[in-house]
Amino acid sequence: MREARVYSELVSYRSTVAEIKKHNPAALILSGGPASVYSEGAPRMDPEIFAQGIPTLGICYGAQLLALELGGRVEKTGAGEYGKVEMRVDGGKLFNALPAEQTAWMSHRDTVVAPPDGASIVATSEHTPVAAFEDAARALYGVQFHPEVVHTPHGQQVLKNFLYEVAGAEPAWTPATVIEEQVARIRAQVGSDRVLCALSGGVDSAVAALLVYRAIGEQLTCVFVDHGFLRKGEAAQVVETFDGHFHVPLVHVDARERFLARLAGITEPEQKRKLIGEEFIRVFEEEARKLGDIKWLVQGTLYSDVIESGGTEGVAETIKSHHNVGGLPEDMEMELVEPLRLLFKDEVRRVGEELGMPERMVWRQPFPGPGLAIRIIGDVTEERLETLREADAILQDEVRRAGLYRSLWQSFCVLPAIRSVGVQGDSRTYGYPIAIRAVTSEDAMTADWARLPYDLVELVASRIVNEIPAVNRVMLDVTSKPPATIEWE
Ligand code: XMP
Repeated sequence: MREARVYSELVSYRSTVAEIKKHNPAALILSGGPASVYSEGAPRMDPEIFAQGIPTLGICYGAQLLALELGGRVEKTGAGEYGKVEMRVDGGKLFNALPAEQTAWMSHRDTVVAPPDGASIVATSEHTPVAAFEDAARALYGVQFHPEVVHTPHGQQVLKNFLYEVAGAEPAWTPATVIEEQVARIRAQVGSDRVLCALSGGVDSAVAALLVYRAIGEQLTCVFVDHGFLRKGEAAQVVETFDGHFHVPLVHVDARERFLARLAGITEPEQKRKLIGEEFIRVFEEEARKLGDIKWLVQGTLYSDVIESGGTEGVAETIKSHHNVGGLPEDMEMELVEPLRLLFKDEVRRVGEELGMPERMVWRQPFPGPGLAIRIIGDVTEERLETLREADAILQDEVRRAGLYRSLWQSFCVLPAIRSVGVQGDSRTYGYPIAIRAVTSEDAMTADWARLPYDLVELVASRIVNEIPAVNRVMLDVTSKPPATIEWE
């Protein structure tokens, strides 16, 4: 929906008719799901909702539910149907201006064998007698196939037809309107109070900060704690962008020595994370205290965090409780401003672009809060940090030059805790190896090692050993997740 520039929200099927009407929706979509409509505890909705005249589209399970509630029939057909099928379309608003023969992606066991009373069948496939039905008078539509996946080539157009033609929604939800809405909301929320924001160098906190600045200007103060584990040039870029370019009031804390001292001798990965998290909070609190009494704290919570922590009344199964990168203290007793709470990551990026953030910052690959400290296996020292930072900069440079940066989920270097023998010129060396890690992924839950072109690997490897005296060997990590994780620590 959002790709069609129509604002949409997830709400639970348990919502009452009154709760749904409070949203004043232009349309409803009933999603697919793994249950059978006949199994115990299968999601059901109050059928009253279908009598409200709100245009409704059921997808897969949602279509079966619509059919069942409104006098149609759903049967268990035994084997089910999975994968691409050829579908024949016969009229219907959903298929307006689309070809009569088209491919659609199916994934179902049960199937609708008779549409709801008054609805007509508008698409069929070999094994699915009712691949789509519609009742234009009541504005009720159902599709057995999945219009939302790329394997249904006309799927997005089917959704657009539903949104624009059936529901009369306008494709008006753009980054510019998001900014306008959020600016108004932030102003109403904080009034003339002062607001604090911790910048991490990542895209979420940066966009959140800029949105708040757009809304309330100098009532906002940003605190950037430089722990020294960012990549080459990143700390300078934060300062340049916020202070130099946007003129956002910025407290830049150079805490590099403090963090290094804290990590001295620490080699256990979880302990590194914990110490960095604690130190971050300590530094942030010290700075916040210096700024006096501030009531509001900006947080870059995303819609995916809200869904994952079950925050939309149990729409999705709770996957994990939302953990805060940077982990700000619970006892600070500040109220939260969360201007990205309704946005997904790609939308945050588009808002960032619209706000004028530099391309490099907007499209930055994900980067862990503890930064390079968990990419240096073993002891984190100034010298090893510098070695990794230089190697990583070469990799970033070449990956960007090869035009691959955005297609990789992450690409970075790791410094293992070993040395190996090499020969450079006529002399024996005993130096560091550097590992190249590059992965593709949708969500970091699983990842595949990226098949970087060998020429690129060769170029990166030779630049690293030639330009960094401490390094005499480069290796490529060819493990996927699972069994490995993306990071080495
Ligand atoms: P793994 O290594 O578990 O990483 O496959 C999955 C994703 O999470 C990122 N990551 C972190 N992010 N603090 C963070 O903010 C951390 O301690 C941390 N550890 C891993 C990692 O970069 C990848 O995108």
